[in-house]
Amino acid sequence: MLSRIAALLLALSTLSLSAEVRALKAFFQERCAVCHGPDGTGRSANGTRLGGRNLVESRWLARQEASGLAASILKGRGAMPGFRRQLTEAEARRLVTEVIRPLAARKRS
Ligand code: HEC
Repeated sequence: MLSRIAALLLALSTLSLSAEVRALKAFFQERCAVCHGPDGTGRSANGTRLGGRNLVESRWLARQEASGLAASILKGRGAMPGFRRQLTEAEARRLVTEVIRPLAARKRS
């Protein structure tokens, strides 16, 4: 009985996490792709440079801590505005771990 409840809770939490990830992917396309490109490379679909840095450069990304990148997203950095009013700290961190890192992984394969 207990384990069935635990399994159900786990299923529910996985479901809501994937819904959140879907929402964050949509947020990236709406608010971040204008500078970082739909694929995170900093280029538009036709290859034009957009002005945001390349977020999926694997050697750079491998040296970054998720917490540091999340802090930049919230506070802003250089020409990038801060997104503190739109995102919680947990959401900013998930943008790094669940949206930006998978984009980088997809690019490499
Ligand atoms: C107006 C253009 C613009 C928008 C919109 C924008 N960025 Fe940026 N972003 C930049 C620029 C430019 C940099 C490089 C800043 C620097 O290091 O001087 C940057 C840097 C970053 C970095 C690296 C930060 C670091 O600490 O080195 C991350 C991560 C990032 N952006 C994520 C995002 C995410 C996620 C969004 C959407 C919520 C977003 N950006 C929206 C322009 C933008």
